[in-house]
Amino acid sequence: MRCARGFACALMLIFLFVSPVVSQDEMIELNSEELGIHQRPFVQFTHEQHAAVIECLRCHHDLDNYGNNLGSEGQPCSDCHTGNPGKNPVPLQKAFHMQCKSCHDQLLARGTPGGPLMCGECHKNK
Ligand code: HEC
Ligand code: HEC
Ligand code: HEC
Ligand code: HEC
Repeated sequence: MRCARGFACALMLIFLFVSPVVSQDEMIELNSEELGIHQRPFVQFTHEQHAAVIECLRCHHDLDNYGNNLGSEGQPCSDCHTGNPGKNPVPLQKAFHMQCKSCHDQLLARGTPGGPLMCGECHKNK
């Protein structure tokens, strides 16, 4: 591809670098408003480190009635897991705990170094 004129080149660069790349943070402080005032220290979640070895859709899902994952990259869990069983039967806190811990648990059972299961290892005091 050639671009002889400055303006066209600039436009191309904008398309290459600014368009639809989904941005993700290296570290996400999980502090869902829906859980109210937190009893535990906020979880500092190493998002990028996880995303480097785990497929996005393993965590970011939307499941239809047949259990097919329709995908929901980047959407806050609280958009669907509200604690209102009419909307979604899995309340928010449980949704987080189930997803985070079940994977760490499975890895441990397989003897693979996984993540923590103890409260204080996720809810870390700073
Ligand atoms: C191990 C689980 C897990 C994996 C794998 C994962 N994410 Fe996430 N991601 C999360 C959680 C949890 C949040 C925070 C959700 C919330 O605040 O409700 C999040 C938040 C995000 C956000 C919101 C913006 C931000 O960074 O604060 C984006 C965008 C995102 N993820 C994209 C991705 C993409 C793209 C991938 C794959 C390359 C990916 N995620 C892999 C769990 C995961
Ligand atoms: C777009 C909506 C949507 C978003 C966003 C979403 N979920 Fe879900 N989630 C669902 C649906 C639908 C189900 C199935 C509920 C049922 O009928 O049992 C589900 C089920 C679950 C379950 C239980 C069953 C399973 O397959 O593991 C967990 C755990 C869970 N979600 C965690 C999370 C976490 C953590 C996040 C954020 C990273 C998240 N969900 C984001 C819609 C969503
Ligand atoms: C699908 C599997 C999977 C899910 C889901 C998952 N983890 Fe992990 N987690 C891992 C693996 C694998 C490691 C070990 C990475 C390593 O040490 O190389 C890990 C390590 C960790 C660690 C210790 C190392 C670090 O990165 O700080 C913490 C804390 C952690 N996970 C928190 C979480 C939280 C919080 C969630 C839910 C929002 C979560 N994990 C969801 C697989 C998972
Ligand atoms: C693998 C990581 C992990 C482990 C282990 C874990 N949690 Fe959590 N917990 C989370 C995440 C992620 C959230 C959701 C935080 C948010 O979005 O605000 C959460 C939310 C909570 C909340 C609601 C928010 C608050 O602070 O009031 C409570 C209470 C809680 N956890 C208690 C516990 C207890 C007690 C244990 C041990 C039995 C435990 N957690 C173990 C990751 C973990």
